[in-house]
Amino acid sequence: MANATNQDLGAGKSKYISDGVSNVSLNYIESAKGALLTDVEGNEFIDFACGIGVMNIGHGNPKVVDAIKAQAEKLVHTCFMVNPYASAVALAERLCRLTPGDFAKKAFFCNSGAEAVENAVKIARYYTKRPAVVVFDNAYHGRTQLTMTMTSKIKPYKFGFGPFCPEVYRMPFGDEVGADKLKDFFIKNVNAEAVAAVIAEPVQGEGGFIVPPDDYFQELIKICHDNGILFVSDEIQSGMGRTGKMFAIEHWGVEPDLITTAKSLAAGMPLAAVVGKAEIMDVVHPGGLGGTYSGNPVACAAALAVLDVYEEENMLEKSVALGNKLWARFEAWQKKYAIVKSIRGKGSMIGLELVNTQTGDPAADETLKLVKHCHANGVVALSCGTYGNIIRTLVPFVITNEQLEKGLAVMEAGIAKIDA
Ligand SMILES: Cc1ncc(COP(=O)(O)O)c(C=O)c1O
Repeated sequence: MANATNQDLGAGKSKYISDGVSNVSLNYIESAKGALLTDVEGNEFIDFACGIGVMNIGHGNPKVVDAIKAQAEKLVHTCFMVNPYASAVALAERLCRLTPGDFAKKAFFCNSGAEAVENAVKIARYYTKRPAVVVFDNAYHGRTQLTMTMTSKIKPYKFGFGPFCPEVYRMPFGDEVGADKLKDFFIKNVNAEAVAAVIAEPVQGEGGFIVPPDDYFQELIKICHDNGILFVSDEIQSGMGRTGKMFAIEHWGVEPDLITTAKSLAAGMPLAAVVGKAEIMDVVHPGGLGGTYSGNPVACAAALAVLDVYEEENMLEKSVALGNKLWARFEAWQKKYAIVKSIRGKGSMIGLELVNTQTGDPAADETLKLVKHCHANGVVALSCGTYGNIIRTLVPFVITNEQLEKGLAVMEAGIAKIDA
């Protein structure tokens, strides 16, 4: 479809792609650089979404593009389980060093966040010889049968897709639960001796950018370990510098048994990993973990370049600076617009909670209007939250000041409209 318009492509999509796949925007993107997307008709968009948290370092970083090109010319695929290659080993070594925990670690590669979570559960069950996993209200872990079961929100993620997997138990998150509640949970819902792992997003993503209290994970991990339960930190959205630390769980100073990472790890190449304590990662029999594309050479080359970019281009500092700017602006909006009830998040992972000014109920319709206003005015914005009333920022760390100001001006104009 040479020179096809957005409308032509929309018609093609309706005809050939399942209606089960929806789009936030109707603009078909042709190219992207930094924080700017350009569609097939030449329209430009400032990216406040990062392809849902994937392009933290920005689109088209030349070091990553060069690494992908060079690797594609040399070797695209062998299947690591058949013929291994160096880049996967080098990346595993770097991830083992980067992840929190002063103990021997090992990694396993796969293709998507959901697959990483599935594998973390497989490994935890194998190691503990226990069946159950505990997850949280507002959790999002993916769309495969097990991770969909672990995910909290019914529509759109679970509706019509049951039956769900057994042995998944859900408890309240954050403020709503201290250590005592978890003990109570073991009395009322599942006995601790049956639980292989507690799996948490340290800052919840799709569920609404929810940050638990300062001592939360210290308490949680202690109860887990007192009961022989593994603690898994799902860093698929909160990791790779988004909260200002490489992995969000570092804000709590605790060391998870296993960590899942994906999204910004390879800046758009499909790659995910489980990284954790060597004694746990090694328990599985040879051949028990794998996958045709797991740790693909081009994806590994991209991830190695991405990690270089984090170091050489100070990505964590950029995330913190961006977060400070966003936080200050959002505080000003909170004072000015009654619809903005709260601001939550860490680093540059920040959400704005929007509520109905009369009733105090979640303002889902208004949030949708705001997202549409942003798209219509050249800003790719995303909502999230169990009640669909959170505007989230997943802005590339490399956004220019001018782009950021332009994007925020559009967003503020939209908030002023829905606040009226
Ligand atoms: C915390 C978390 N876990 C898991 C996933 C699933 O990742 P994927 O979409 O790559 O399967 C996501 C995706 O948004 C996520 O945010």
